[in-house]
Amino acid sequence: MWNNVEIGIDLGTANLLVYSKGKGIILNEPSVVAINTQTQEVLAVGLEAKSMVGKTPANIVAVRPLQDGVIADFDMTSKMLKAIMRKASKQLGLAMRKPNVVVCAPSGSTSVERRAILDAVKSCGAKQVHVIEEPVAAAIGADLPVEEPVANVVVDIGGGTTEVAIISFGGVVSCSSVRIGGDKLDEGIIQYVRKSYNVLIGERTAEQIKMEIGYAPITHEEMTMEIRGRDLVNGLPKTVTLRSTEIQQAIQEHMLQLLESIRSTLEDCPPELSGDIVDRGIMLTGGGALLNGIQEWLSTEIDVPVHIAPTPLESVAIGTGRSLKFIDKLQKATV
Ligand SMILES: Nc1ncnc2c1ncn2[C@@H]1O[C@H](COP(=O)(O)OP(=O)(O)OP(=O)(O)O)[C@@H](O)[C@H]1O
Ligand SMILES: [Mg+2]
Repeated sequence: MWNNVEIGIDLGTANLLVYSKGKGIILNEPSVVAINTQTQEVLAVGLEAKSMVGKTPANIVAVRPLQDGVIADFDMTSKMLKAIMRKASKQLGLAMRKPNVVVCAPSGSTSVERRAILDAVKSCGAKQVHVIEEPVAAAIGADLPVEEPVANVVVDIGGGTTEVAIISFGGVVSCSSVRIGGDKLDEGIIQYVRKSYNVLIGERTAEQIKMEIGYAPITHEEMTMEIRGRDLVNGLPKTVTLRSTEIQQAIQEHMLQLLESIRSTLEDCPPELSGDIVDRGIMLTGGGALLNGIQEWLSTEIDVPVHIAPTPLESVAIGTGRSLKFIDKLQKATV
């Protein structure tokens, strides 16, 4: 009976999730790994590793091995995967023996990297491993009827990349990927605060600002937020009050690039499917779907209904876990 255990892994730039059929999301942690630089030993992964960032002695580094939607450090990625698989198997106990695994690889990964991800998962004891494309997993996880001959449009806004895909009859009709995601928005905020206030803030502060008072380009009731950073003039800690309209400005350029990418994919759509898009609209997944005002903004700009998946941060993981039953049809999308 253990043979039927099915596990889905979303190997994301920002977050790594593990989904098990029946139990749902069993693990959801930042894609960070802490390593002893002398012995190359893994000291911590996920949340624990993220909390070590910037606070470690010289012989320990906490890194994000995936960046801009691609694997920046393969060795670290595979170490992180192995550690996560061990954590997951502890959670599942016996049930984790010889699971069938579907992994969602970052969009920019090469076939060699995909093969290596597959091997890394296999070496953790998996029976069968498949690799699936991120937008397809996102669409399945968001409950879109991907097997039907209708246009399912999914826009997955992750930490590293945004993927736009039109899926019909189990396959990708057209898709595009831009290296703009939550990380770029955070960078925009860091730069803005440095230029306007001469204050340096860290990535985590920038992310908090984005989540709290970041807005898509729409008119809204202004909010403010107090933040702390380092004054670049005298080096001392400084408190600054930021307005949501400033942050909106700071991320606007990236938001417009994102819009362009969605527009051009929709323009590539075969005419027979265009009607579906007008009726059915597009589905937003990924953490970026939670940005304030994004639904209203996109539906005004592209003039089709815009939906947000029920749990956008989990769509890809849920989709990978559920995709085993589609895998024959989706073989094209695997290595
Ligand atoms: N409430 C929010 N508002 C705006 N952005 C958010 C919010 N919550 C999370 N995010 C952002 O979503 C991003 C993470 O999303 P997600 O977990 O889907 O990415 P990922 O799958 O790891 O990355 P990728 O798909 O690019 O490999 C982060 O940049 C995070 O800051
Ligand atoms: Mg993702």
